[in-house]
Amino acid sequence: MPIEKINALIAGVGICIPDTVLTNHDLAITMDTSDEWIQTMTGIRERRIVDPAQATSDLGIVAAKQAMIRAGIDRANIDLIIVATMSPDLLVPATACIIQERLEMKNTPAFDISAGCSGFIYALAVGSQFISTGLYNTVLVIGAETNSRIANWEDRGSCIVIGDGAGAVVLQRALPEHGILSMCLGADGSGIKHLHTPAGGTRMAVTAENIAANMHKVKMDGQEVFQFAMRMLPKVTEQALKMANISKEEIALIIPHQANLRIIEAAARRMDIPMDKFMVNLDRYGNTSAASIPIALHEALENGRIKPGNVVVLAGFGAGLTWGAVVMRW
Ligand SMILES: CC(C)(COP(=O)(O)OP(=O)(O)OC[C@H]1O[C@@H](n2cnc3c(N)ncnc32)[C@H](O)[C@@H]1OP(=O)(O)O)[C@@H](O)C(=O)NCCC(=O)NCCS
Repeated sequence: MPIEKINALIAGVGICIPDTVLTNHDLAITMDTSDEWIQTMTGIRERRIVDPAQATSDLGIVAAKQAMIRAGIDRANIDLIIVATMSPDLLVPATACIIQERLEMKNTPAFDISAGCSGFIYALAVGSQFISTGLYNTVLVIGAETNSRIANWEDRGSCIVIGDGAGAVVLQRALPEHGILSMCLGADGSGIKHLHTPAGGTRMAVTAENIAANMHKVKMDGQEVFQFAMRMLPKVTEQALKMANISKEEIALIIPHQANLRIIEAAARRMDIPMDKFMVNLDRYGNTSAASIPIALHEALENGRIKPGNVVVLAGFGAGLTWGAVVMRW
């Protein structure tokens, strides 16, 4: 008798959006840029920024609590916590452990995933595997970032795209033919230099000299990342669709990583899929890295853009370089 594959589904979604709004006009006061330039080049109008007292786990906790409420799941029933982030509270230990402690979920396994802006897709893929094997029934996946803390505010070519926020989902077992139907992940370490933080790890210490040179902040070659994203977003989306045996006509909604409107528009053109099939909210939140996809998913659900039975594609790309896509039947 063939063994039936267990799929994981998203049972609830939660978010945390910081209150403070930083508009392009605000940025233009402190650096040589303009609202027109940023909007034309990225599609971003404004982003949210955390308060001085907030760290990544603070956002993740709010999103996680909301996701558990929406899923109707008590925290006692969570079997595993995975946090995707590139702006952790601490280098050691994992932000997932900080969230676990503060949510009083003692003994629940918890770890972080570092895959840049693809982090949420990677975490979703890993979390769903624990459900597919039958080891766990309920997994909490969080994407949380305080990018404003790791951005180089002296580099107008990179800091203008970032934003802070968090999104979380609860994964549970799906009915056959529902939930995550396919996933496709990839990485190319030869692109490390295009998007990385030079100092702060074991390769380069954080010295006064390095701090003065902003080596502890994110360095990005915008053009390289842009070209990579334009290539990879359509490619990984098409690969995941093929693996799920789903045609592009069957897609109800694609939720791409929210980095740059021009990247999303180029992907739409290349795949010959109309823009209204793409979820876009980067105009209001900027690039929130591992949080961008769950935040956009939450908004799509709130706006009724996803109905039961719909095919939904999530697709991300980011530092590593990494990429990934997941095809789901809602
Ligand atoms: C960041 C990004 C908008 C910059 O656009 P770009 O066309 O690559 O810009 P460049 O750095 O090549 O600079 C082009 C010109 O704009 C200027 N410029 C750069 N940033 C600017 C800003 N914020 N405001 C005004 N001018 C700016 C540069 O100085 C340069 O001027 P010059 O031609 O006189 O030298 C773009 O590269 C991008 O979106 N990349 C992808 C980023 C991304 O998605 N990252 C996350 C992936 S997970």
